[in-house]
Amino acid sequence: MAETWRQLRAECENCAACELAATRNSVVFGVGDEHAGVLFVGEGPGEQEDLRGEPFVGRAGQLLDRFFAAVGLKREEVYIANMVKCRPPHNRDPKPEETEACLGWLRRQTRLLSPKIIVCLGRVAACRLIDPDFKVTRQHGQWILKNGVWMTATFHPAALLRNPNQKPDAFADFLALREKMRELDIWRGDAL
Ligand code: URA
Ligand code: SF4
Repeated sequence: MAETWRQLRAECENCAACELAATRNSVVFGVGDEHAGVLFVGEGPGEQEDLRGEPFVGRAGQLLDRFFAAVGLKREEVYIANMVKCRPPHNRDPKPEETEACLGWLRRQTRLLSPKIIVCLGRVAACRLIDPDFKVTRQHGQWILKNGVWMTATFHPAALLRNPNQKPDAFADFLALREKMRELDIWRGDAL
C-alpha cells in the first residue's frame, strides 16, 4: 500500500537516527499543502520551531512570510520543510552525518508531494540538494532542472536578518519564482 503523509509523519516523529534526537523538544516534520507544487527546504529548526513543532515560525519565519506576501503567495499553498527535522543545539549548522541521517525523510516527503519546484533556503540545503559547491551570493535565483524538478536557491531568511542589504536580491528571486510558477501553470494567485 502506498505511504501516506500521516504514516510518514508518525514514523518521522519517532526517529532517533542521529544525535539530535537527544536534545530536541519536537520533531519539526513540515507544514503546508500536501499537494503543493512548490517545496521550500530550510536548514533546521531553531528555538521557536523546536518548541512549537512547526518550521519557520520564529523571526526568520516572519521574514519568510513577508516575502510570500510580497509576491502574493501564501504559506498554506506551498510546503515547507527542513534538511534536518530536529534542532541542532545552539542553532549550530547540522553536521554532515546528521543531514545524511535525516535525508531519507525529506526524500519520502518529496516523493509524496511530487513538487514541480524546490526552493532551497540558504547554503545548507543548496549545497546538499543542488551542488556541493553552490555559492548562494553568486548563484541565487538560478534555475536547474533536476530529475524533472525545477530547483533554485535563495538567501536563508536568517541570513537576510543579518544582511538586510541582500533583501532586494531575495525579493527578485521570489518574483522569479512566481514567474516560474506561472510558466508551469501552478500559480493560483491571480483571481479570475
Ligand atoms: N531556520 C530554518 O532553516 N528552518 C526553520 O524552520 C527555522 C529557521
Ligand atoms: Fe531523525 Fe532527522 Fe531528527 Fe536526526 S534530525 S533524529 S535523523 S528526524
